[in-house]
Amino acid sequence: MRVNRSFGYLLGMDNLTNPSIDNDALSEIIQEGLPPEFDDPNYSFTSDKTPFGLDDLHLDDRFQGLFQEITTSILQYFSNMAFQKAEYYISKAWATYTKQKQFIATHKHVASHYSFVYYVQADEEIHSPITFYEPAQGLRVPESKIWNADNYRSLKIKPKTGLFIMFPSHVEHGTEEMAETDVARISISGDIVITAEGGHKTEYLLPSPSTWRKLNGPVTH
Ligand SMILES: [Fe+2]
Repeated sequence: MRVNRSFGYLLGMDNLTNPSIDNDALSEIIQEGLPPEFDDPNYSFTSDKTPFGLDDLHLDDRFQGLFQEITTSILQYFSNMAFQKAEYYISKAWATYTKQKQFIATHKHVASHYSFVYYVQADEEIHSPITFYEPAQGLRVPESKIWNADNYRSLKIKPKTGLFIMFPSHVEHGTEEMAETDVARISISGDIVITAEGGHKTEYLLPSPSTWRKLNGPVTH
């Protein structure tokens, strides 16, 4: 019997293969930006937590080729959604860098509707997968010992260069400790916020930021 647990269908996946994306060049840019003191034995490095707050890669000219392709995938993903009169924004985007023995603790993104990850440098044979966990509601349901497509509470996806994954921001996710390897896993993550189109009112979406009134600092409206 097929049990339609919709979690698995919430994820969107794409392979970005356009030659305008130079993954080697992007990997170099990210590695050159690693702070010299970066050497945590456990946790992966994420650029949004540096003193410089590098969480605006979507505005960085060096990443524009990639973000054009990401934009195409995101809009394709949302093209069948009920909210047609909507605006889609990337609110932030940052890099992650994982060496051997490091991992990304389970977490969720709390300041957006959807999130994404793109693998700039990853190998499904040597790098640990990303695991998504079904949102917990009510009493805890134990994990199944045997995974199949009809019965699971978590989903592991092996990373590979060019893979693009979208998921609702409230879905918890993380990676396991990475095996012995000299090759780092490098990815770019980002958050997406959905609002209504300017002039279109609906109770289900944030109004367009073009109609917001800022209360502190200079008045914008
Ligand atoms: Fe994340």
